[in-house]
Amino acid sequence: MAYSLISLEQTKSPISEAFRMLRTNVQFANVDSKVKKIMITSSGPGEGKSFTVANLAVSMAQSGKTVIVIDADLRKPVQHKLFGLNNGEGLSVVLAQGQDYRECIQETAVPGVMVLTAGLIPPNPAELVGSRRMKRLIEEVSKQFDIVLIDTPPIIAVTDAAIIAQEVDGVVLVLASGEVNKANAQRAKELLDNVGSKILGVVLNKVNTKIGNYYCGNYYDANEPKKKHRHQQQEIGD
Ligand SMILES: Nc1ncnc2c1ncn2[C@@H]1O[C@H](COP(=O)(O)OP(=O)(O)OP(=O)(O)O)[C@@H](O)[C@H]1O
Ligand SMILES: [Mg+2]
Repeated sequence: MAYSLISLEQTKSPISEAFRMLRTNVQFANVDSKVKKIMITSSGPGEGKSFTVANLAVSMAQSGKTVIVIDADLRKPVQHKLFGLNNGEGLSVVLAQGQDYRECIQETAVPGVMVLTAGLIPPNPAELVGSRRMKRLIEEVSKQFDIVLIDTPPIIAVTDAAIIAQEVDGVVLVLASGEVNKANAQRAKELLDNVGSKILGVVLNKVNTKIGNYYCGNYYDANEPKKKHRHQQQEIGD
């Protein structure tokens, strides 16, 4: 099992606690309707999207939900590595060749978590994730699982995430503390706003503190008035 699944291996660690808080906040982020299909993205590369997807999936499964992780980062996929899976047949073959997703999803070592890995890297990722098959896939898996978590490439670099954002109930934006600049964070929010997607919240990742490498803060609701932001931020340290 990959070391990055902290919420599985160290259930009592502060970082697991941070993911439990994220889980709770995401589940209650939209009081009017159920949040089921969730996309995770960030402004730039390496901010912790995939790490957040995998650990949030574990945390949600530990609360009794059935979760499917879809690795829709068809450019730099890693979910197969995080869950120790084979990446032969995955999302790309479902989208490009119309293969049945049920033949491609894999069980993981975590009860309740299944993964549709990215599969072989295709030449046309944006076209594939924008296809009708992608739309249908998200609809179908959302009937079969309690939660659908979708990993994506950075939203500023390529259009994939903005396209997928239109098919989900909400988006979690991961920002790496000390790495992301304000303009990029704002640009990411703008791109999501432009396609009418609901930002469920923002994860401030890779937070360093003096008491260890973590801080369990709260959750940042990007739609709330500014003065509340300080209290609504999810901080996950590395
Ligand atoms: N909170 C954290 N604690 C420990 N390690 C972390 C944390 N967040 C990210 N990392 C590590 O940082 C690296 C980048 O994380 P990750 O792959 O999740 O980023 P990403 O945003 O998905 O990157 P990419 O843009 O390449 O898809 C990985 O090695 C991951 O294990
Ligand atoms: Mg990634």
